[in-house]
Amino acid sequence: MTPQPSAAFNLRAYQPQDLPALVALFQASVNQLTAPHYNAAQRQAWAPEVADMPAWQTRLAPLELLIAEDGGAIAGFIGFSLDGHIDLLYCAPSHVRQGVASALYAAAEQRLREAGVHTLHTEASLVAQAFFASQGFSVQQAQTVTRGAVMLPRMLMGKTLERR
Ligand SMILES: CC(C)(COP(=O)(O)OP(=O)(O)OC[C@H]1O[C@@H](n2cnc3c(N)ncnc32)[C@H](O)[C@@H]1OP(=O)(O)O)[C@@H](O)C(=O)NCCC(=O)NCCS
Repeated sequence: MTPQPSAAFNLRAYQPQDLPALVALFQASVNQLTAPHYNAAQRQAWAPEVADMPAWQTRLAPLELLIAEDGGAIAGFIGFSLDGHIDLLYCAPSHVRQGVASALYAAAEQRLREAGVHTLHTEASLVAQAFFASQGFSVQQAQTVTRGAVMLPRMLMGKTLERR
């Protein structure tokens, strides 16, 4: 029998001491998992080798953050806000296609439902587009974000939460 994804990982709230591991996961995730859609210059612009940790602290501060843990190591994380914005979703390369993002997303959606949110949106990378489509999101607009001199295509996607 195939185990349920949510049973395979321990989900917990982010703690400030997770920051170095979270940023390292982000860098590995971007560099290793997005290569089919983004070239080296784009990946470097998205996830510079030397991370600006104070900027990360500022970036994370307003978000609700959940960590997926597997045997004490961080397997992925999601960051979202109670206006329905799914801001960050990254899986460790070692754990890709094992249901980590699905488990994190399910917990975030549950939290957002409980907070009374009805519409969700995200700026999905071209890598994450298929993931969000699998969760019921549809593309609203193709976008381009600029990082320095580099342009990164992405998709604005949205989902309406049906009442249960
Ligand atoms: C997108 C991402 C978070 C998905 O994480 P994941 O834990 O591998 O996703 P899951 O295992 O929960 O996938 C669930 C389903 O989503 C779809 N899916 C996920 N990744 C996919 C991919 N690369 N290509 C096609 N479909 C994909 C599949 O339907 C999958 O189900 P299946 O494996 O049974 O076919 C991960 O690939 C990642 O971190 N990418 C790099 C960073 C990134 O782009 N983050 C998003 C920023 S907006």
